[in-house]
Amino acid sequence: MWNRREFLGAFWGAAVLAQAPAEPEAGRGLRVGFIGVGNRGTSLLRTSLALGVEVPAICDINEAHLERALTLVENTGRARPEGYASGPEDFRRLVARQDLDAVINAGPWEWHTPMSVATMQAGKYAGVEVPAAVTLEECWQLVHTSEQTGMPCMMLENVCYFRNVLMVLNLIRQGWLGELTHCEGGYQHDVRGALVGHERRGLPGEITWRGAHAVTKNGNLYPTHPIGPIAWWLDINRGDRFTYLVSMSSKSRGLNYYVGRRHGPEHRNAKRAYALGDVNTSLIRTEQGATVTLYHDTVSPRPYDLILRVQGTKGIYSGTLDKLYLEDRSPQKDAWEEASVYYPEFEHPLWKRLGERARTHGHGGADYLTLHEFLTAVKRQVQTPIDVYDTAAWSAILPLSIESVAGRSKAVDFPDFTRGKWRTRPPVQVA
Ligand SMILES: NC(=O)c1ccc[n+]([C@@H]2O[C@H](COP(=O)([O-])OP(=O)(O)OC[C@H]3O[C@@H](n4cnc5c(N)ncnc54)[C@H](O)[C@@H]3O)[C@@H](O)[C@H]2O)c1
Repeated sequence: MWNRREFLGAFWGAAVLAQAPAEPEAGRGLRVGFIGVGNRGTSLLRTSLALGVEVPAICDINEAHLERALTLVENTGRARPEGYASGPEDFRRLVARQDLDAVINAGPWEWHTPMSVATMQAGKYAGVEVPAAVTLEECWQLVHTSEQTGMPCMMLENVCYFRNVLMVLNLIRQGWLGELTHCEGGYQHDVRGALVGHERRGLPGEITWRGAHAVTKNGNLYPTHPIGPIAWWLDINRGDRFTYLVSMSSKSRGLNYYVGRRHGPEHRNAKRAYALGDVNTSLIRTEQGATVTLYHDTVSPRPYDLILRVQGTKGIYSGTLDKLYLEDRSPQKDAWEEASVYYPEFEHPLWKRLGERARTHGHGGADYLTLHEFLTAVKRQVQTPIDVYDTAAWSAILPLSIESVAGRSKAVDFPDFTRGKWRTRPPVQVA
């Protein structure tokens, strides 16, 4: 470990990511604990094992999930981890162990901050699923704890590591899009089956932990998948920052319709009120004058689409189309080109180096790269590429959009979690 002064120097120097190429298995020699091994946690565990980590301890209050995860580790030839399942606060015993370098938590949203704070307070790197916080108080708690303990907290926002996102980042950095003026993104994903339980899980029509948020909250409940890449493109917290947002929600119909159709119109969850409007639209303005339109649409039947459009003075990329137009380069005036044309020249170095290895893992390989970058930072004992300020600013859209919607789309200010440091922090360095 570093002494506190050395660490803080690296920490506040920000993005002091070492440049040397990472070794093939970033996790070798690292000991990582896991909290919450449901669908996502199990997938992160599997990928982390492929990256070479040791897993001495796992916590989950669901004994079947815990058992599945312990066996998964054992089946790789590693020692069976110690299991923790004695109630919702048992993770505190796990994070206190002396034999862990990092702890990854992938439980329900309302547990992300308490688990990350406990992890940092115990002197370990925190890797946390999205969103990392559900209130502004929690966002600040993450920031304060990371600053006070010197321990990084990385929200494991895997969309930042999508192949197209990083290729476009490369194009932006090389100036092909000019000065950026507007981005558009959305979490447009039909997750009705994750909000309302189904027969297969023995919960026909019952509200899950995730659905419970839709019962009480109206806003953008899942902003980080689209805003993570957009924040990297716009250098948010690193030369620019989110200043304020306005947000508006449509009426709420999707979940009533869904439960009624599957379980009958008399089912209590077909008749109940849900706070969440089906389609939420937010507009964000940045200090440097760029705007971002952000959608949240999780209860409508629809194909998955993150949009991920970026407009600059010299060109545009559209993730929905996976096409772009660059005024100084595209052969035909005002005509889209397939983005695939650009990979031979502009593939991001991280994808060039690890793309083949990553591809068999989740989200087209992005999960592998996200964990690779997290574990590389842990191994080198440096700041994580997505740091606590990003983690807080991206998650903050959840409570801020709720506040705006509740106030007839009033403008609400983003806190400056960096307290002015956004002006001088260098752009994120990816690998
Ligand atoms: N980045 C991505 O692409 C992605 C994809 C899916 C889900 N997620 C996120 O991952 C998280 C988990 O989602 P999921 O679909 O796996 O949910 P899940 O319900 O399948 O898993 C959650 C797990 O946490 C456990 N748990 C709950 N409270 C706990 C506590 N106090 N202590 C220990 N364990 C506890 C549950 O028993 C369960 O096993 C969510 O935050 C979700 O938003 C991210």
